Amino acid sequence: MTLRIRESEPLASRTTLELGGPARFFAEVASLAEIEEAVRFARERGLRLGILGGGSNLLVADEGFDGLVAAISSRGRTSKPGPDGAVLVRAEAGESWDELVGWTVAQGWQGLECLSGIPGLVGSTPVQNVGAYGQEVADTIVEVEAYDRERGERRLLARAECGFGYRDSSLKRAGGRFVVSAVTFALRPGAPAPIRYGELQRTLGVAEERDLARVREVVLQLRRGKSMVHDASDPNRRSAGSFFTNPIVEASVADEVARRSGEASMPRWPQPDGRAKLAAGWLIERAGIVKGLREGHVGVSSAHALALVHHGGGTTRELLALADRVVGAVEQRFGVRLEREPVMLG
Ligand code: EPU
Repeated sequence: MTLRIRESEPLASRTTLELGGPARFFAEVASLAEIEEAVRFARERGLRLGILGGGSNLLVADEGFDGLVAAISSRGRTSKPGPDGAVLVRAEAGESWDELVGWTVAQGWQGLECLSGIPGLVGSTPVQNVGAYGQEVADTIVEVEAYDRERGERRLLARAECGFGYRDSSLKRAGGRFVVSAVTFALRPGAPAPIRYGELQRTLGVAEERDLARVREVVLQLRRGKSMVHDASDPNRRSAGSFFTNPIVEASVADEVARRSGEASMPRWPQPDGRAKLAAGWLIERAGIVKGLREGHVGVSSAHALALVHHGGGTTRELLALADRVVGAVEQRFGVRLEREPVMLG
């Protein structure tokens, strides 16, 4: 046994929201073997197992977590030539996501640049298919290494087995069965970045950009403007990024929402299946929830209506009550139900 198990470990300071109670048991796991040990420790004692990555998309219950929390702390990244001139980059689950992006951009390897400035660790990115500014990790992932708790063995999941969708994957749908230990991406050395997202296209003034560092810089600048880059001096800093996913609805529902809003210019993105993705932040504002709204110790970010923020001294219960209020307002105004994005622990 190499795991160092701690008891009554506070979790709030390990999450970007800085909310929630302690873990009954807590251990850092730095390898697949240690993940396996943590699984065994929990199983032998009949405990639930929670996985902690960067804590940037996590809501911890005020009562804490009555089980074992395994914090992923494996480090390391390697690269090797892949098929068709690609470079295969493998990163351990505990690597900082943005450090990985910064490194690949500096190498001139195209594929992750639009995902600059996203908080959290590499291992969480395939689970919710992290995406932003026209890219998602599903575009470049070739393989995910995970510990399969059901079979009790290491698994290599090819991209096709990951069942990626918008902020979704088979890993997420399997509800904790897989603990990601490493991710491999296929990147394109020297290739220009396609610029697909409207806001990014307008800022860069191009539909394709060879200078990946410029793409990264502009994405970081846009994210900072929305308080979506961690900054210790930002009053909106305690958040979990987007608190809701953007709803994907039938085209007729989107038309009805536009009609009710009276704004023909409502942002909407057509989906391959004919449905439309709506902007949750836009719906929230039009439902009368203003940016900067404050309720006790929690509120809505003053920079982006999709982020709920904690102002210090609050509780997860308060935040969830505000989330319910937001969901209720959008449902009442537009008949569309928003779904929560962060994962709950406890
Ligand atoms: N909008 C508003 N009010 C707001 C916020 C946005 O009207 O308070 C409007 C904007 O004007 C724009 C539209 O809504 O027309 C979309 O806004 P934005 O470009 O900021 O993107 P988003 O749809 O709100 C998504 C992702 C972000 C990602 C950005 C950029 C989700 C849930 N969110 O946000 O990802 O960074 O696009 O690509 O898909 C995350 O998932 O945690 C996240 C930060």
